Amino acid sequence: MKTSALIYLIIFGLLPVIFHYSYNIQKKILFLNFVQWPLKVEFSEPQSVGLEGTRNFYLHTDQQVKIGVWQILPRSLLNNSIPTTDEAYEAVLSNATQPVFLYMHGNSGNRASMHRLELYKLFQDLDYHVICFDYRSYGDSDVVELSEEGVVMDSKYIFEWVMKKVNGSAPVFVWGHSLGTGVSAHVLALLATENIQPAALFLEAPFNNIADELTEHPFSQLFKHLPWFHWLIVEPFYKNNLRFESDKHIVKIDCPIMILHAEDDGVIPVFLAERLYKAAIDSHGNDTDRVQMIKIDSSYGLGHKYICRYKELPSIIKT
Ligand SMILES: *[C@@H]1O[C@H](CO)[C@@H](O)[C@H](O)[C@H]1NC(C)=O
Ligand SMILES: *[C@@H]1O[C@H](CO)[C@@H](O)[C@H](O)[C@H]1NC(C)=O
Ligand SMILES: *[C@@H]1O[C@H](CO)[C@@H](O)[C@H](O)[C@H]1NC(C)=O
Ligand SMILES: *[C@@H]1O[C@H](CO)[C@@H](O)[C@H](O)[C@H]1NC(C)=O
Repeated sequence: MKTSALIYLIIFGLLPVIFHYSYNIQKKILFLNFVQWPLKVEFSEPQSVGLEGTRNFYLHTDQQVKIGVWQILPRSLLNNSIPTTDEAYEAVLSNATQPVFLYMHGNSGNRASMHRLELYKLFQDLDYHVICFDYRSYGDSDVVELSEEGVVMDSKYIFEWVMKKVNGSAPVFVWGHSLGTGVSAHVLALLATENIQPAALFLEAPFNNIADELTEHPFSQLFKHLPWFHWLIVEPFYKNNLRFESDKHIVKIDCPIMILHAEDDGVIPVFLAERLYKAAIDSHGNDTDRVQMIKIDSSYGLGHKYICRYKELPSIIKT
């Protein structure tokens, strides 16, 4: 009896209060950057994780953060004249004739995580260029205080770098996954005011904002009906500017947007993506050239991470 009362007190009393007052714990739970998987990655040797025609390099952002980046060549350029220098790789990007995909990953892991590699290889096989990178404090990028603003500034810098390099020679697409949808929507909302837009934005397994995602996450189901849940768990994130309010950002974005979500996503329930979609069509109108949402049936079993295995995906992207 006594033990179970104590456990009860810890789970419903002590843990939430610690959570409420610890910005560090909130950040750790949101970004999960301490979850490093795969454990040992030779970032400088992308071929060690099975990527062909790929170079590793580093960019130093305007905030002096060193960011680890991979540039992956489209399949048709993987012949016996694969570039051997950074300059040659950059020249290929500047003379790109195939579309360029800039990928912004979700929380945990790094740019070498398995499901991410699978998507890059799909892009490569579709004959697209890929740029992917690790935000600050992920992978081999500089360890710098994590915040929404921080990862957004890193990503904004990389996006602008890509736009400058490609310089209109080919269309640039932005692809965000999971927490990366919050990052990409925030970046593009900021740049919309400067009239800088990609050809289109893909949001894979997105959520509408952190408040709803926190409330609907499976871990919260035990707590969310407690009367103090909102004050204890949700408000501190807002106060600490960990918001990722994609439903507000999407209103400002002018390029076409494609939302992809699996109905059996157990991390971000599909109705949060529907709320985001609704925010988009409420402001942009239900014009399928501007905003589209594709829900993937549970029977495919793709969940949160494996939309890259959806057999219709190549034709969706091409369209
Ligand atoms: C490799 O592919 C590129 C692009 O298709 C082409 O311009 C080049 O001539 C090819 N090089 C060789 C050695 O086949
Ligand atoms: C495009 O390719 C040509 C020929 O390889 C090269 O000389 C030129 O520098 C490239 N353009 C840019 C902007 O790098
Ligand atoms: C970018 O494109 C413009 C217009 O096509 C061209 O005038 C300019 O030289 C290009 N810049 C670079 C760095 O290649
Ligand atoms: C938007 O339009 C498409 C095509 O006309 C339709 O299939 C879809 O149900 C509409 N969405 C909403 C939310 O009305």
